[in-house]
Amino acid sequence: MRTILTLLVFYIHYAKSLYCYWNTGCPYKYLSTETPYNSVRGDIRDSIVKLTGCEPVSIWGIYRHGKRFPSSHVSAIMKEAISIRNYVITSYEKGYSSLCAQDVENLRNWELNESFFDGKEDITEEGRKEMVGLGKRLKEAFPTLLNNLREGSYTFRSARGAWMEKSIKHFVKGLGNKNLSIDDPKADIDIMDPYATCRTYQENLQKNPNITAEAEKFLRNLDYLAAKDRIQRRSGIDYNLSDENITALYDLCRYTWSAVDDKVSPWCALFTKDDLQVLEYIQDLKHYYANGYGTPVNKVFGRVPLGDLVECFAKAKKGEGKKITAYVTHATMLDQIYTALGLFKDEKPLTGAKMDRERKWRTSKISVFSANLVAVLSRCDKEGLEDYNVVFYLNEEPIRSICEEGVCSWREFDTKLRSFIELDSFM
Ligand SMILES: *[C@@H]1O[C@H](CO)[C@@H](O)[C@H](O)[C@H]1NC(C)=O
Ligand SMILES: *[C@@H]1O[C@H](CO)[C@@H](O)[C@H](O)[C@H]1NC(C)=O
Ligand SMILES: *[C@@H]1O[C@H](CO)[C@@H](O)[C@H](O)[C@H]1NC(C)=O
Ligand SMILES: *[C@@H]1O[C@H](CO)[C@@H](O)[C@H](O)[C@H]1NC(C)=O
Ligand SMILES: *[C@@H]1O[C@H](CO)[C@@H](O)[C@H](O)[C@H]1NC(C)=O
Repeated sequence: MRTILTLLVFYIHYAKSLYCYWNTGCPYKYLSTETPYNSVRGDIRDSIVKLTGCEPVSIWGIYRHGKRFPSSHVSAIMKEAISIRNYVITSYEKGYSSLCAQDVENLRNWELNESFFDGKEDITEEGRKEMVGLGKRLKEAFPTLLNNLREGSYTFRSARGAWMEKSIKHFVKGLGNKNLSIDDPKADIDIMDPYATCRTYQENLQKNPNITAEAEKFLRNLDYLAAKDRIQRRSGIDYNLSDENITALYDLCRYTWSAVDDKVSPWCALFTKDDLQVLEYIQDLKHYYANGYGTPVNKVFGRVPLGDLVECFAKAKKGEGKKITAYVTHATMLDQIYTALGLFKDEKPLTGAKMDRERKWRTSKISVFSANLVAVLSRCDKEGLEDYNVVFYLNEEPIRSICEEGVCSWREFDTKLRSFIELDSFM
């Protein structure tokens, strides 16, 4: 009898310390649009598709800005939620919590950095490093093409906003040539964010209940309710967490995670991997309906920058093009481009009724900070005949699904995208 009791106590004790966040070894790192680039990127230097008899002649890329500071609106909500920490600590001290001692200690020691939460319209140090790294690796992957960039052989431009301009600046810095000049953002319409200046679209976006309907429906789904219950019970706090509180805690976890120092955030210890997956799904639903397949107009906007891509490469083919074109814009634009290209499209639309665990639409992979779609045009010599092909890369990995084996012949590329050029008039 006694041995059984002892065993039982041992067992319970052991089970409790299994769920520590601080030493899990592989924390769940998919944090939707706030995922650090470093957590998901490939490396163009390793993944570059080398084709015999071909040489790259032009690169076109569109990038999401690097990690930015949270907006003042989100910062205010997060700052208010910090007081939930006191409940977590008290609950732990009273023995009501099943969080690990070290996790609670790390949370207690976490210091609010006011300067991080003051709504700066800027990218963080991590964001700068991400953008510099992108430029640097690209240069190393395409040294011959990018070594001697002369005036007129390149275009670098961002959408409006200080964090956009800082992002392109650091990308160009990574290319390592001090003389490169960056164009000013366009004051009104630009191919890299046509939705931003379309008034009807902006008005409909605010009014369209479809954008948030599925995400709201999911808040009554059993998967979500179970996660909410787990968060409340593991922390054992006597403060009833609202859906808004959970979002705020999730944001604290996401924004205070640093991939550059490889430091996870102690706020993430409030969530299990399952909880984080549920919260990630809510974000995917929101973006699917706001920027992706959930709303038909998105693919129309996505075609606009792709039209620019075809024009750029058609010129380069004639020997009049740029060696490199790089734009920095919002996650919205990248999502719309994927939608126009038919990438990451699920057979059934994502809904709040069921969490689709096998979904292709994963913002944690496709709309992360510094996410990028890059196309490379190569000229090949095929038994004395000149030929061209295009390879697409997503976050520094070749995209194999656009054309067979990931290499588009000029004809395939042209057939797929040429019709998008006419959309310039639609703007
Ligand atoms: C929790 O959420 C409610 C709204 O649902 C809000 O009024 C309250 O201030 C939040 N609490 C904290 C500590 O942020
Ligand atoms: C606080 O945040 C600012 C802005 O990110 C940063 O420059 C500074 O080093 C941080 N301070 C500390 C103590 O981490
Ligand atoms: C930068 O531009 C200046 C003047 O246009 C030129 O003299 C200099 O050689 C250039 N430097 C590099 C590294 O290209
Ligand atoms: C919302 O979605 C429904 C069903 O897909 C559609 O019939 C309706 O037109 C949409 N409403 C708006 C404002 O887009
Ligand atoms: C939390 O909610 C439960 C039921 O929803 C309620 O009985 C309880 O009084 C609430 N606790 C606090 C501290 O508000």
